[in-house]
Amino acid sequence: MATVLVLNGPNLNLLGSREPRYYGKTPLANIETKLKKIAADAGHELLWYQSNAEHELINRIHSAHNEGVAFVIINPAAFTHTSIALRDALSATAIPFIEVHVSNIYAREAFRHNSYFSDMAIGQICGLGAGGYEYALLAALERIGDTQ
Ligand code: DQA
Repeated sequence: MATVLVLNGPNLNLLGSREPRYYGKTPLANIETKLKKIAADAGHELLWYQSNAEHELINRIHSAHNEGVAFVIINPAAFTHTSIALRDALSATAIPFIEVHVSNIYAREAFRHNSYFSDMAIGQICGLGAGGYEYALLAALERIGDTQ
């Protein structure tokens, strides 16, 4: 059994009500429930974390390393475009990760086109709505399967 950690950055607690033209109408809690079931059905554990604070996300990544988390799925939200510190936490712990965005960041404002994470990520999924989390988990489970 492996452990996958899903990390969600600032304002993603508002998914479902926040700017539905970009983010759809699915609440974050529904995505969590669905992903936990997919992981459990595959015999793995899925941990879920959301924070609006950069340092809390960084601390969660540090603890993930100590807990032996095998894979991270991260939607860094606005920190995607600003946070070298969060990038460094992933780099320092060397946990493989997939970057997810609900909206298509390349079809939006220019400041969203840069990601501090994408060059380090196994892959990036964006613009596919809440389903992006599920597709990322399927890819993570495939990779975990390959290494076990
Ligand atoms: C986001 C895209 C970011 O640009 C934005 O700041 C978010 C959410 C997405 O999931 O589409 O908060 O990461």
